Amino acid sequence: FNRIGVLTSGGDAPGMNAAIRAVVRSCVYYDITPYGVMEGYDGLIKNKIHKMDASSVKHIIHQGGTILKSARSKRFMTIGGREKAWNNIKKKKLDGLVVIGGDGTFKGAMALGSEHDIPIVGIPGTIDNDIFGTDFTLGFDTATNTVVEAVDKIRDTATSHSRLFFIEVMGRDAGFIAVHSGIAAGSEEILIPEKDRDVEHLFESLERTSRRNKTSRLVIVAEGDQNGSVYNLERQVKERFGDRYETKVTILGHVQRGGRPTCNDRVLASRLGVSAVEALMEGKRNVMIGTRNKKINFTDFDKATKQNPKMDEELIRVANIISI
Ligand code: F6P
Repeated sequence: FNRIGVLTSGGDAPGMNAAIRAVVRSCVYYDITPYGVMEGYDGLIKNKIHKMDASSVKHIIHQGGTILKSARSKRFMTIGGREKAWNNIKKKKLDGLVVIGGDGTFKGAMALGSEHDIPIVGIPGTIDNDIFGTDFTLGFDTATNTVVEAVDKIRDTATSHSRLFFIEVMGRDAGFIAVHSGIAAGSEEILIPEKDRDVEHLFESLERTSRRNKTSRLVIVAEGDQNGSVYNLERQVKERFGDRYETKVTILGHVQRGGRPTCNDRVLASRLGVSAVEALMEGKRNVMIGTRNKKINFTDFDKATKQNPKMDEELIRVANIISI
């Protein structure tokens, strides 16, 4: 390998910078010239590809976001867009690519890799933790810690006023952020898309906890939950219980995507970045680098994009027991 390009695509996630840094530094270590692609796949199409060196990634390991910027490229979804990208890849003489992102990022990589001769490896970077083939995705640990910090604060005011809060967290179609942060913040109820729990379940749980004289109640709702928006849930609770609960709604939103990556995310990013470059050097292509039981693990893009990671039933059980 002489030249490897690196890009970040899809929703940004804390730890992406640490991963870019690891890819660039590994390239330099192995005498490969690293190239940074700006704005995800759009940057390949627009030829926003520039040479990097070890110092281009200094002082970024602790920063959220991505210095390479990110995008959800519509043009790259077309054959014509990918043809343009390929021409720029040839012009810059890149002989390998590391793409950091989620599901959509790997689908894009698969399409490009099937039409043109370019080895690509992927690093899972998304706060949602919804990628098959890795224990954790980059950004998940930071995002859940951000949620827990915010929910702890909400608990203070909820208790002072004896209120019932509905707190919506991100996660797209997955409930990993909700389950992990719900357990850690001691929430009374967690609603996630993976569990078929309708609003009756919530009513029952509120009745049960009422008997225990709770002074505050926090319900964590994953954005993909089947019961719809948190405002909808609030309305249904009001309709059912009248004035029994004073309710409030908080949608945490994009605050979950930013911030300094945790130590866990920085270490994971560094490991995956080094492994990505080494995987290319070993001749691997079309694979995502993740970890399984703490060890580096490779998953074909095909599998990583087709399968969904399973919700951990043990966590659900724990959440149920400790929230009685
Ligand atoms: O995939 C990460 C994520 O933050 C999801 O949790 C959320 O549904 C989505 O991206 C939001 O996307 P955008 O920032 O484009 O609004």
